Amino acid sequence: MKLFLDTANIDEIKALKDTGFVDGVTTNPSLIAKSGHDLMDTIAEICELVSGPVSAEVTATDADTMLKEGLKLAAIADNVAVKVPLTEAGLMTCKTLSDQGTMVNVTLCFSAAQALLAAKAGAKFISPFVGRLDDIGSDGMTLIEEIVTIYANYDMPTEVLVASVRGVQHVVDAAMMGADVATVPPQVISAMFKHPLTDKGLAAFLTDWEKTGQSIL
Ligand code: G3P
Repeated sequence: MKLFLDTANIDEIKALKDTGFVDGVTTNPSLIAKSGHDLMDTIAEICELVSGPVSAEVTATDADTMLKEGLKLAAIADNVAVKVPLTEAGLMTCKTLSDQGTMVNVTLCFSAAQALLAAKAGAKFISPFVGRLDDIGSDGMTLIEEIVTIYANYDMPTEVLVASVRGVQHVVDAAMMGADVATVPPQVISAMFKHPLTDKGLAAFLTDWEKTGQSIL
């Protein structure tokens, strides 16, 4: 399963990119606003830092303007994936851009029916928001299971990109379901390394090693 970083913060991306676990980046208008920096400059810098897909979202709501914005975003770098919302206009734009060979990430997906339409529109990625479904008492992971099943039934190439991830368990559940990608906040990737028994076991190993008086180098 691929791991994408869900952030527009350049420092956060720089801090984690050298781990080798950053397969791509996703942004959205809220993350860009949070970064405090210019969208075009930020996406260009991220595309320099990360060779995998970098999602940049349109902000128009009509198909004609979405297309103009999408083409401008796609022109920033070859690894830009244009993000469009799961609306009728968004899927029309997805079809046009995908037909031209542009990667499209269809975002704000909350149902299997929506995901089916996105795949039919040629989306490279579908982004179901599991955390926001959990937030309202639904089960985000049930949606992931439905989408993975539907796409497998018809051998649809659209990649399931689990988004709105709230913690490590979402990543594990997504992998158990066979999702292609999880896009995670930087703190979740950092948390994936951690387990108290690992820390405890390492401390014990090093304490016992110290007693030997030996050194490897
Ligand atoms: O990639 C989508 C993600 O940024 C949304 O997360 O926490 O706002 O639901 P959240």
